[in-house]
Amino acid sequence: MAAIGSAVGLGNVWRFPYVCYKNGGGAFLIPYFVALFTAGIPLMILEFSLGHWSRSPPPMAFKKVSKNMEWVGWLSSLVPFIVASYYVVVMAWCFAYMVFSVNLMWRTDAENFFYTFLGKTSGISEIGGISPPVFLGLIAIWVSIFIILYKGVDRIGKIVAITVPLPTILLIILTIRGLTLPGAVEGVSYYLSPDFSKLLNVNVWLSAYAQIFFSLSLAQGIMITYASYLKRDSDISNNAFITSLADAGTSFLAGFTVFSVVGYLSHITSTDIDKLGIAGPHLTFITYPTAISLLPFAASIFGVIFYIALLTFGIDSAFSMIEPLSASLNRKWKLSKTKATAIVCVIGFLTSLIFTTGSGIYWLDIVDHFVANFGLVFIGLLECLTLGYLYNLSKLRKHVNKTSDVKIGKWWDMMIRFVVPAVLILLLIISIMENLKAPYMGYPVWSILIAGILPIIFIIALSFILQRRRR
Ligand code: PHE
Repeated sequence: MAAIGSAVGLGNVWRFPYVCYKNGGGAFLIPYFVALFTAGIPLMILEFSLGHWSRSPPPMAFKKVSKNMEWVGWLSSLVPFIVASYYVVVMAWCFAYMVFSVNLMWRTDAENFFYTFLGKTSGISEIGGISPPVFLGLIAIWVSIFIILYKGVDRIGKIVAITVPLPTILLIILTIRGLTLPGAVEGVSYYLSPDFSKLLNVNVWLSAYAQIFFSLSLAQGIMITYASYLKRDSDISNNAFITSLADAGTSFLAGFTVFSVVGYLSHITSTDIDKLGIAGPHLTFITYPTAISLLPFAASIFGVIFYIALLTFGIDSAFSMIEPLSASLNRKWKLSKTKATAIVCVIGFLTSLIFTTGSGIYWLDIVDHFVANFGLVFIGLLECLTLGYLYNLSKLRKHVNKTSDVKIGKWWDMMIRFVVPAVLILLLIISIMENLKAPYMGYPVWSILIAGILPIIFIIALSFILQRRRR
């Protein structure tokens, strides 16, 4: 349940529907499922089995695999920590919008309202002040994360028993509402009408793999950490399949939720769907709320439902990003779980402050682009290479098969040793090339260095330092 909670998050609601629509609609489901079965599920099994076998958080797990590879584990615990520092800010926005929904405060001009709310400055070089509502929301979210994590895994179990089913039910309610609106059919057919010619484009395939990685929370040490808490006789491969398919299913459903309402907005304002802004923050904080405020009745109720759904979807992704690092510090230095969690949360809180300023949304854009894109793929690759070549994979496979109903065969070793690394290397090369083509994303060079390059160098260096420190 916690693994599903980590996987299902904002990425399912604001990323999948858009990526799907952009990359061939219904036809995209083909590369998507290919990516799910050739990379997502094999890697999920790998991470589950590594955690279950080593019964350790990532650094110690990798150390058991190969003495000098502890740093890979540290790296994979540090990346989600950085992702958390801005993911939590987006959740703070959701928190504020949940309150704003009560009287639909954005009603007259959602775009203007959003930027005023952020105190958005004219460019990244103008820092701007901290936005008070975001600041308050941020404190609320970090405190929740701390409270959920500091006592250990039992509490996580109790929380996810609510925060996984609840938003799913809310999403279904929103979808039913959406599908019964005029224009919904056009919206949905926009989302799913298949364009098979797109399947000839490599980028479409790579988008599918990238989406799978991000959405399944892979290569972040998360699934390793969670699996280390499983009982000895827990089923591994079944759990990996269920987690992955539940995540894919939620993404698919969210497409209906989003596009039905976008179709309605396009219908009522006679604007092309293309012009509406249907990805990322724009979707969640401008387009969707605009549509909500135009609902014939109970608009604020649906607004509140939408943001509660996002918050509850997001919270288990957010705390899952903190758990690997806090568990690792706890294990290596015998810090109490409370202390380790407090340290990580306080540093995380301070780091997220930069994203609450008027220029925060620019910084968020850069950090997300570099750390999430490169970080994930790079660590996924390291994982496959470390386990595939420095370790006898078939031992791990036997470990899985001992307790699992669905037995995995030699195909899995092939995936981890050849297919997944090949795809990831391709992905890295293509994204590096794209970045060289348009190197600065419209931002000044210094800001790319600070927010894009520096954090990556910093966490790699820190990983080696942490490996060398004695306990
Ligand atoms: N999988 C989460 C989502 O779809 C995001 C996430 C990324 C969670 C990385 C953990 C680590 O929103």
